Amino acid sequence: MNTANIIDGEASVTAVAHAAMARTPDPRLRRLVAAFVDHMHALIREVDLTEAEFETVLKFVTDIGQQTNDVHNEVVLAADVLGISTLVALRNNPQNQGQSAAALLGPFWRAASPLCANGESIARCDMPGTTMEVSGQVRGVDGAPLAGAKVDVWQASPVGLYENQDEQQPSMNLRGYFITGPDGRYSFRTVRPAGYPVPTHGAVGVLLRLQERHCMRPAHVHFMVSHPGCKTLITQVFADDCEHLGSDVSFGVTKPLVGQFVHHAPGGKDKADGGSGYYTLNYDFVLEQGASCFPEAPIK
Ligand SMILES: [Fe+2]
Repeated sequence: MNTANIIDGEASVTAVAHAAMARTPDPRLRRLVAAFVDHMHALIREVDLTEAEFETVLKFVTDIGQQTNDVHNEVVLAADVLGISTLVALRNNPQNQGQSAAALLGPFWRAASPLCANGESIARCDMPGTTMEVSGQVRGVDGAPLAGAKVDVWQASPVGLYENQDEQQPSMNLRGYFITGPDGRYSFRTVRPAGYPVPTHGAVGVLLRLQERHCMRPAHVHFMVSHPGCKTLITQVFADDCEHLGSDVSFGVTKPLVGQFVHHAPGGKDKADGGSGYYTLNYDFVLEQGASCFPEAPIK
């Protein structure tokens, strides 16, 4: 009779669980699950997790799954507000070759946004807000411009909502991608995004309220910059003058990602600025060599 997995008291559970999983053929999976078991068991012992607390944890995990659908991803949001997404992004994207800083993907990226010509606007309807002109250059770590790079952008509206959250906006509003020219440059027009509250209708909102944390992200534009033969860069550029810059609920702000949102007074040359002036943002991206691959979109 095999008695190897008969548990001889609380202290033996971890070792028995390891033994049961030791034959996992895939070495990476074996290591990942073993470490997960080690850390989870250690956590349970460290905090003396009660059965009621265990139920709450399981309910949280169940809830974030059940609250995820085609237009909302509560699981990604949970990883973001716990600092997990940023930790993974920073550990996997060191700036050791002069490449641009990466940031978390967030829960709002949609694949298959429309191709736009450089200079075109991603505001697909008349919307209030201050015009913003965004431009920059995509280069390799050797400094050479990267022609034909794809610059995929997405952002919240001036009232702080992504188009998938807002019936007032047409589909794919404030989303699009641009292809850099021979000089590696991209440019587009938009409206300045507002900082926004992350969705708080679900389990993440409950957690934030229990923690007495605000739910705000500072104003930012998301970028996914790619080129054949280069590692895809996923990042965000934040408004330097924005409230909550120093307290992003998703921990996305790092110093290199604070962009200069330069305000230009009304009445400048050739600008239909509606009397509120306009902003410019210039931001260059440097890609390292690597595989050009893309994440699965958190929403459809
Ligand atoms: Fe965002």
